[in-house]
Amino acid sequence: MDHFNYVDGLLHAEDVPLTVIAAQVGTPVYVYSAATLTRHFKLFQQALEWTDHLVCFAVKSNSNLAVLKLLGDLGAGMDIVSAGEYARARAAGVPGERIVFSGVGKTGAEMRMALDGGIRQFNVESEPELELLSQVASSLGVVAPIAVRVNPDVDAKTHEKIATGKAENKFGIPIARARDVYARAAALPGIEVVGIDMHIGSQLTDLEPYRLAYAKMADLTRALRADGHDIRRLDMGGGLGIPYRRDNNAPPLPIEYGQVIREAVGDLGCEIEIEPGRNISGNAGILLSSVIYLKEGEGRDFLILDAAMNDLIRPAMYAAHHDIVPVVEQAPGTPVAPHDVVGPVCETGDTFEKAVDLPRLSAGDLVALRSAGAYGAVMASEYNSRPLVPEVLVRGDHFAVIRARPTLEEMLGRDTIPEWL
Ligand code: LLP
Repeated sequence: MDHFNYVDGLLHAEDVPLTVIAAQVGTPVYVYSAATLTRHFKLFQQALEWTDHLVCFAVKSNSNLAVLKLLGDLGAGMDIVSAGEYARARAAGVPGERIVFSGVGKTGAEMRMALDGGIRQFNVESEPELELLSQVASSLGVVAPIAVRVNPDVDAKTHEKIATGKAENKFGIPIARARDVYARAAALPGIEVVGIDMHIGSQLTDLEPYRLAYAKMADLTRALRADGHDIRRLDMGGGLGIPYRRDNNAPPLPIEYGQVIREAVGDLGCEIEIEPGRNISGNAGILLSSVIYLKEGEGRDFLILDAAMNDLIRPAMYAAHHDIVPVVEQAPGTPVAPHDVVGPVCETGDTFEKAVDLPRLSAGDLVALRSAGAYGAVMASEYNSRPLVPEVLVRGDHFAVIRARPTLEEMLGRDTIPEWL
């Protein structure tokens, strides 16, 4: 469920007509709903109500400071993967003890930053990383709490570019090596083993891969405890999918996912962490865009928008679907025709979707690309020298620009022409 609905014939974000935002901020622009973010976060809190837990929002899905502050104020932890994300979480007011550091390529400088500033746990993804973390922590005279990310070799049954839990993926330590790596961790100075971590992929629409992976996690917890490790925290990762289409094939709900966790590891007495990103932010955002032209082609019509692949890369990158809807509600029975919806970037791949049934629209009409709050703005670029897309947050009947559209001067101002040129 989200808070983007038609009211009096116009698509609204909560109580604000999208036409008002377009008029004041211009397009393209991302628009987020505070109520949807809040609701989705609370669904995960409720799903884990049966135990001690921390819901760590995956910052990579939407890292705007206002979004992080909103979630942080609700009690969210943060799952981060870089110094930049750490800095964002802290700037949004999230304390270090609620921040989990994931990622396969943490540098020594990033480890130092997190250890200095405060960190809940490092999710260690390789043996060289473990050795480096031990050195860095020892040199600072502190102890780094760690979980080892274990790769359970489970097929997440999602798009191959976002599956992470198979043996051939670069993530985590093979489960068969886990006991050796934990033994090494326990022997290293500056390292304290606190738990186990797994993350098997993103946009999972079936709970079975989770069941398989978490059963392995439960076995591993028992084995590691028998080896003498104090395993007290289990980080179950993120990845629960969202409905990108409004049909009857909705993925499982957070509450059902919480039950799967409970059935698999509920008897182990561990604190549970999860790292949802898309499920909290995805349907909390839309990309609002204007039609530039309706171009009649050979056998098909092109709807050319002012949003492009540089603003929302998911269709080009993963053949992802985003519902595209007119902001002005169409009366039932309004004739529709198939349109290829494209952006102005000079690539054929700059196509949001082919053959979308839409009413006849013309220059200046507004459309919304739905479910764009996760992996939307964060993956935007300035390709074709199109200034980075701005972001707006709505709460009730008011809204604010939470990232302004850069001017052309600001965009150019980041480059330097050397004086010797
Ligand atoms: N934890 C870890 C360690 C992750 O790598 C990820 C996502 C998450 C949590 C959050 O997963 P989520 O709950 O959002 O599915 N750009 C792609 C998605 C990449 C996901 C990468 N890792 C897309 O647009 O679909």
